[in-house]
Amino acid sequence: MGFAIGGERLAWIVGVLVVRRGVEFLSHEILHWPINVAACRGVPLFRLARRERRCIRNRNLSQGSFVPPSSAKPFVDVLSGQRQAVPPVWMMRQAGRYLPEYREVRAKAGGFLDLCFTPELAAEVTLQPIRRFGFDAAIIFSDILVIPYALGRSVRFEIGEGPRLEPLDDPDKVKTLSPRADFGMLEPVFEALRIVRRALDPKTALIGFCGAPWTVATYMVAGQGTPDQAPARMMAYRHPEAFAKIIDTLVGNSVDYLLGQLAAGADALQIFDTWAGVLPPAEFARWSVEPTRRIVEGVRAKAPDAKIIGFPRGAGALLPGYVEATGVNAVSIDWTAEPAFIRERVQSRVAVQGNLDPLVLITGGDALERAVDEVLANFGQGRLIFNLGHGIQPETPIAHVEQMLKRVRG
Ligand code: CP3
Repeated sequence: MGFAIGGERLAWIVGVLVVRRGVEFLSHEILHWPINVAACRGVPLFRLARRERRCIRNRNLSQGSFVPPSSAKPFVDVLSGQRQAVPPVWMMRQAGRYLPEYREVRAKAGGFLDLCFTPELAAEVTLQPIRRFGFDAAIIFSDILVIPYALGRSVRFEIGEGPRLEPLDDPDKVKTLSPRADFGMLEPVFEALRIVRRALDPKTALIGFCGAPWTVATYMVAGQGTPDQAPARMMAYRHPEAFAKIIDTLVGNSVDYLLGQLAAGADALQIFDTWAGVLPPAEFARWSVEPTRRIVEGVRAKAPDAKIIGFPRGAGALLPGYVEATGVNAVSIDWTAEPAFIRERVQSRVAVQGNLDPLVLITGGDALERAVDEVLANFGQGRLIFNLGHGIQPETPIAHVEQMLKRVRG
């Protein structure tokens, strides 16, 4: 079936295409201006050529990648491709029960969610570890379970027991799941970010976060934490379509939640997949990697230069595939990671964050000095953000955190 186009018609089509391209270009520039101006890959399109030339001049030969000019935040610079002689350092769960000043605010706030949703208090506890230790990054005080909460699920935190949700453990219940979170309920988190942003020293980065859909779903399905997340794994095998609906709902809402956090002042984002390690490889690809990839893609569609750290805890040998598929700028690794494997297959592509065992931080003394030196020896020659392999434990002595920092910073 052939057809011919006359000259006049062709000129009309070309004209329409040119005008459409122009409108797309202008609307992209206007909509993304605040996000674009800050970053190398996201600069306004008309400046791209000049910026690319500057990037080429700054090419970092040892890493074989383009290096944007320094952002004045060592944490962000590592994510952008620049190794720091002294690695930036922060700790997962750095605002928390090991700090007396946290326990004081926590007691005043009432419930844990009241603390998360009172901007002044959430901002205050976010800043406490920065004031005390001068970490290179602050992570906004909130929880991964605020998304199910904003989806209208009941979420409670019982003292000494962890979270309790209404279980979403059969396809009929999944039918009642709202597709869209009430973002008004999450506004206090954005407000807390704005307060922290204003209070932070310009060299300190601010991290926003969400849970990966798989990990959030494990709590939504079981209604609580379980040792090996059997209820969610069972549901994914028995009712993959219903389970996929939970995951898809979390993907879409997490994209908007993370974009809201960037707009409120976050410099980088972390996606916590605490329970990635309980899945067999094929399930890991389907329920952990693919949803994370979609979140990264969804965020970058609107914020092309967004810096994203993935934390698929326990992923082990599956980490290189995770990095390749998701497009994250860095991965947080736990203390079981094999150093040579990570250097060759992971740190050669992205920055690495980690990976001190939180139990050695409780121990302190020579064991702590040795363990810090090992992390630095294992990963310090490449792009490293010094951190723990998982959250700090409530019984950790403050003096040991100070000892760790002194050792890292020399
Ligand atoms: O890192 C930080 O300082 C930011 C705050 C933060 C919290 N939770 C505060 C919190 C972050 C990043 C999280 C993430 C989170 N929440 C994860 C993923 C990371 C991880 O640690 O595995 C998960 C699985 C949750 C769900 C959750 N929240 C659980 C299982 C619990 C109970 C366990 C516990 O430590 O009590 C919480 C409660 C929670 N979230 C606390 C804090 C400081 C303790 C509650 C309290 O102070 O009473």
